[in-house]
Amino acid sequence: MTRTPIVAGNWKMNKTPPESLQFVRDLLPKIETFGTVEKVVAPTYLSLTAVASALQGSPVKLAAQNGHWEASGAYTSEVSVAMLRDYVSYVIVGHSETRAYLNETDESVNRKAKAVLAKGLGVIIAVGESLEQNDAGQTESFVSGQVRAALDGVPAGDMARVVIAYEPIWAIGTGRSASGELANTIIASAVRDTISDMYGQTVAEAARIQYGGSVKPSNMAEFMSQPDIDGALVGGASLDVNDFASLIEIASRVKGS
Ligand code: PGA
Repeated sequence: MTRTPIVAGNWKMNKTPPESLQFVRDLLPKIETFGTVEKVVAPTYLSLTAVASALQGSPVKLAAQNGHWEASGAYTSEVSVAMLRDYVSYVIVGHSETRAYLNETDESVNRKAKAVLAKGLGVIIAVGESLEQNDAGQTESFVSGQVRAALDGVPAGDMARVVIAYEPIWAIGTGRSASGELANTIIASAVRDTISDMYGQTVAEAARIQYGGSVKPSNMAEFMSQPDIDGALVGGASLDVNDFASLIEIASRVKGS
């Protein structure tokens, strides 16, 4: 089973609209030859429409960093998936920062994931354990539970548009990444096996699963060479256009068909 690698840059609360535009203009000529990798950038909401125009006809896809399940209404500060659908290909849901700072729960992650899929978009669902859970040996059961909760009620037919990003919280923005081998073990046992339990082996083997947490050009090959890791969700290193292009190049070299 070949799975198309997917490298996504999560810009978090970084880059103004002019900076976002400059980034994608600089990026496009650098990645022309890495056709076998799916490339995604996730600017802030404020930059989405301008970046969407700049990316038209290019191989780089756009993601939103969040999205509300209701189409419209009295939800101050929110942007709905229905509003995003004309601009983005993916919506990221369940990032540990939205879980920690914006009250995201397994239940809201599930509602958002279903709303994204219902609109025909792809969803990147982030899961991952805290340092305390890791130290207590709870990683596998916790991550598996997050996957199960996020996918509750998602039909098998939508699974081709689901990407799971396994991001141990202790590795995000800390410079302390998991080892490739450890990340692969959790991804295989807690993510892919859970999908297999829920949907069967064929769906599980086709499912794309990213690693995230302090991914950078110097450790990208270690992650990409793991059998169950199909790409990366990248924060810090995705803000630098040369680093991001280099991550795509490495993904293409190690796993591009
Ligand atoms: P990082 O962030 O690459 O800066 O660790 C990853 C993420 O939050 O998706």
